[in-house]
Amino acid sequence: MIRTAAMAILFATSFIAHASEEAKGKADPAKGKVIAETVCVACHGADGNSATSANPHLAGQIEEYLYKQLKNFQAVGEKPAVRNNPIMGGMVAGLSDEDMKNVASWFASQKQKPATAIDESKIALGQKIWRQGDFKKGTPACAGCHGPAGAGLPAQYPRLSGQFAEYTEMQLKAFRAGERANDPEQMMRAIAAKLSDAEIKAVSEYAAGLR
Ligand code: HEC
Ligand code: HEC
Repeated sequence: MIRTAAMAILFATSFIAHASEEAKGKADPAKGKVIAETVCVACHGADGNSATSANPHLAGQIEEYLYKQLKNFQAVGEKPAVRNNPIMGGMVAGLSDEDMKNVASWFASQKQKPATAIDESKIALGQKIWRQGDFKKGTPACAGCHGPAGAGLPAQYPRLSGQFAEYTEMQLKAFRAGERANDPEQMMRAIAAKLSDAEIKAVSEYAAGLR
């Protein structure tokens, strides 16, 4: 008797867990839009096209990458956030896991409208690093992971095309200094460590001009 009751409860809870997992699995961009329009709009624009280089564009970014960054900005318990940023840390503090999935799917579904002016003098060096890397220094081509046109590759590799050069430059320097350390297997820290300031500037400018 007790045994069947326990089994019934077990069955019921596993059923509930399964059902809610399914509900969680499907992101709802319409719900994400509401969050974007109320919380994110001030800095990233409601459609993820940011007005200033201090805040990155999010429109058309890889969905899984966006979700991962939101999780990484969130401090869990006593530990500091893996991607430590006071502004975004505050933004994600009030978001549930589901909110993050929804808002990621909203921004990923939006169209980027890049209008960045490009410094043409840096294009040649930037293009070389992007397409070939630097064999002597052992720097791999950015295109290998971020795509030839910088569109990114689901699920791990973010889009870099059309992003503000200033933002890309800042992130590369943060990886190089180890201040940003949320890259899987230290991929970006290892690469950025081999880039000079001039190379970082050139490749950031090049990526900003990619469409
Ligand atoms: C007060 C301004 C501000 C608001 C509001 C804001 N953000 Fe941000 N966001 C930033 C800044 C600044 C960065 C760059 C952080 C860094 O340098 O690492 C950023 C970075 C991000 C990134 C990382 C992008 C990348 O390419 O890695 C994501 C994702 C993001 N924000 C999502 C959101 C979402 C979703 C909201 C709304 C819930 C939001 N942000 C609200 C300022 C803001
Ligand atoms: C071996 C694969 C690989 C190569 C090659 C690579 N990257 Fe990355 N890159 C990644 C991954 C993975 C991430 C996402 C890290 C994370 O999850 O936060 C990333 C993230 C970035 C970011 C952060 C984007 C954002 O929105 O915040 C920048 C900037 C970047 N890479 C630039 C470059 C440049 C420039 C090169 C070439 C010099 C390059 N990457 C080569 C794998 C790679």
